[in-house]
Amino acid sequence: MLSNTLLTALNDQIKHELYSAYFYLSMSAYCDAHHMPGAASWLKVQAQEEQAHALKFFAYIQERGAAVTLQAIDQPPTTFGSLLEIFEQVQKHEAFVTSLINGLYELALKENDYPTQIMLQWFISEQVEEENTSAQIVDMLRMVGPQGQALFMADAQLGRRAQG
Ligand code: FEO
Repeated sequence: MLSNTLLTALNDQIKHELYSAYFYLSMSAYCDAHHMPGAASWLKVQAQEEQAHALKFFAYIQERGAAVTLQAIDQPPTTFGSLLEIFEQVQKHEAFVTSLINGLYELALKENDYPTQIMLQWFISEQVEEENTSAQIVDMLRMVGPQGQALFMADAQLGRRAQG
């Protein structure tokens, strides 16, 4: 049985994952309105992944016979800067999410909750990938510089990310 402390923390994580989806969807809307369709598409796919993460926690709580409690989701920012600044924010946000997942794992260890430790291992690997991907995009955008054809090509490259 999930402890109340762990259940609260897992319910909180649903909110954090849905906020991540909201945050990236807001970035996507901004990119679309500012003629960066490739980044808009990339961020929309990322928002869908975050929704899927939220649903994994949702399903896990239910599998453990506990109750999901959804919480209010904060409004995300609605204006952002350059493409580089946007992806620097993605990178920073993913580092924050990693710290949340690590905190959950530490809690599951402390409580000797083995199933939760196993479930979280997927998220630990996922965060390695998400931090690495966002770091690579930031590096690419730093190389490309703030304007011109190279930035246009970088946006197109981001747009090639497969849907779903
Ligand atoms: Fe659900 Fe990007 O972490």
